Amino acid sequence: MAHVHETEALHHPHGSTPAEGALIAFDDFCFAYDETVALRHITLDIDAGDTVVLMGDNGSGKSTLLKAICGLVHPQQGSYRFDGAQVTEQRMHDASFSKRLHARVGFIFQDSDAQLFCPSVEDEIAFGPRQIGLSEDEVSRRVDDTLALLGIGHLRGRAPWALSGGEKKRVAIACVLSMNPDALCFDEPLAGLDAKTQAWLLGFLKQLKAAGKTLIIATHDQSLADEVADYFVYMGEYHGYGDRPHTHINL
Ligand SMILES: Nc1ncnc2c1ncn2[C@@H]1O[C@H](COP(=O)(O)OP(=O)(O)O)[C@@H](O)[C@H]1O
Ligand SMILES: [Mg+2]
Repeated sequence: MAHVHETEALHHPHGSTPAEGALIAFDDFCFAYDETVALRHITLDIDAGDTVVLMGDNGSGKSTLLKAICGLVHPQQGSYRFDGAQVTEQRMHDASFSKRLHARVGFIFQDSDAQLFCPSVEDEIAFGPRQIGLSEDEVSRRVDDTLALLGIGHLRGRAPWALSGGEKKRVAIACVLSMNPDALCFDEPLAGLDAKTQAWLLGFLKQLKAAGKTLIIATHDQSLADEVADYFVYMGEYHGYGDRPHTHINL
């Protein structure tokens, strides 16, 4: 019965979860890819509405932590909870559980090409809402709203693979936002973008923050970090500003 109860908790954001509970909670979470240990005894809480910036050297585990938040990798030891519900490999095999998690926390990959696979931008943005079983009316409303929000209505019928890097990034963000998630994970969002697109994205991240979204952003960009972070998570050997609110993990 515990299983049913916790699945329900994931479905009803403000239902049976204690108000003081963190949205994202890692407890002694350890993960290795075959031979490589990537996450060591991670204990970390992220509250709803916070903007957290992950900083660390290459290979310090930033991308793997974002994958864990989205239920894409699972611990060999310890646990991860999203809104009170423990996220395990077994539960992610339950289609209704995994769809609910993916609807509530989205991942914008560093490489947009890894994220885009549909024949048109419109299909790409509709994919997630269709997966969670929304009506076609609701799907098309979400597509229209999201195209407008990202300013990409003119790209609706285009093939994603044929877009510029900046356009692909907007489409990748649109695909996640069409699910209306509570939390968004951005992996190196500014990497590979031109200055104009970077400036747009910085403004857009601030809008998401102002709208109350929970943002987890892995970046090497100090000015992005300084502008949006409520606090920092430094990973591995990395030492950032000691005078900014921070926690240090994955030592
Ligand atoms: N798919 C993978 N298979 C094997 N090892 C991986 C894989 N992805 C990452 N790693 C390893 O896990 C560690 C953490 O990587 P990653 O999370 O990508 O760090 P970061 O995003 O901070 O650069 C590194 O040692 C990396 O080589
Ligand atoms: Mg990475």
